[in-house]
Amino acid sequence: MSIVHVHLGPRSYNIHIGCNLEENLAQYFPAGSRSAKVCLITDQNSKVHAQLVASLLEKNGVITRLVCLPAGEDQKCLATLSRLYDELVEFKADRQTIVAAVGGGVIGDLAGFAAATFNRGIRLLMIPTTLLAMVDSSVGGKVGINHPKGKNLIGAFHQPMGVVIHLPFLQTLPDREFCSGLAEVVKYGMIMDEAFFRWLTHAGTDWRNTTIVEHIVETSCRHKATVVQEDEYETNGLRAILNFGHTFAHAIETVAGYGTLLHGEAVAIGMVAACRTAVRMNWFSEREIDECLIPLLQSMHLPIRLQNNWSVDSLLSTMKHDKKNIHGQLRLVLPRWIGKVESGVEVDEGLVREVLATRLAGPHELG
Ligand code: GLY
Repeated sequence: MSIVHVHLGPRSYNIHIGCNLEENLAQYFPAGSRSAKVCLITDQNSKVHAQLVASLLEKNGVITRLVCLPAGEDQKCLATLSRLYDELVEFKADRQTIVAAVGGGVIGDLAGFAAATFNRGIRLLMIPTTLLAMVDSSVGGKVGINHPKGKNLIGAFHQPMGVVIHLPFLQTLPDREFCSGLAEVVKYGMIMDEAFFRWLTHAGTDWRNTTIVEHIVETSCRHKATVVQEDEYETNGLRAILNFGHTFAHAIETVAGYGTLLHGEAVAIGMVAACRTAVRMNWFSEREIDECLIPLLQSMHLPIRLQNNWSVDSLLSTMKHDKKNIHGQLRLVLPRWIGKVESGVEVDEGLVREVLATRLAGPHELG
């Protein structure tokens, strides 16, 4: 059991990582919390976990309401948000009421945005249930919903009062979802921690082993906390390094059609694409890709190639519309070496086109 502290002055909070849910919840709701009211927001995939949380809170005297939504990215919309406001009103939520988001990234973003805006902002407790949410989306304060024209176009910064990571929740997570979360873990190694990356390459293939999971979750949360502490509102460019592989990934998700790939799967391919781009700029070593990054991603059952039916033109035009670009000029996060990336790198479109046209095959495969 460990605690990662996120230092953000008056918005500081702890991330509790471990297996004792009751004890970790009691940090926020000690026995006899009679007047506390918690609205738990979850989806069908995490309902049993939310019911467990609700029963533990009720044991300590907390008044709860459980709102269970259908699962899926399409819930991150105004209609569902509006339903959440209705639920909070019916619950007679006031400034003291707490929203607890029990679920993956969609629930965290959506419930978080409801908490950020209801009554001009009420407290939010993140209780992530997927690996991706544990290592990435539950920490950092970005919350929001999608607009039909773009993902996360409507949102806010609203730091949680705490994050409670109960590792046993991962036991019910399907393998594919679990491996998708591992892509973001590899990302932390690539962007800021070479030793951690090397450790991952020697950790074996039993990724669901309890000791390994605890180490990867704690290390990832520590790194996410470091970045967020130094660039809470994404103003000095540091937070941008978290987008390593993501400009490619968003284009891949769009072109493949949402729902075809899981987010982490697209990020895995995106990281390979960013590395191959960096090789063409003489920034990065091809050997590191073919002998280290690719075998690691493959051990996690993550994809590493672009499919032939994803058109290069469509991928490129989607990348050019990425909101991180300035005046349509492609800007990417590219690696210098494992553990070090640079953000906002202006990249020639023709070079990216060449990389995409190879479908990301290595030099020995291209002949
Ligand atoms: N909620 C995810 C982030 O702030 O990065």
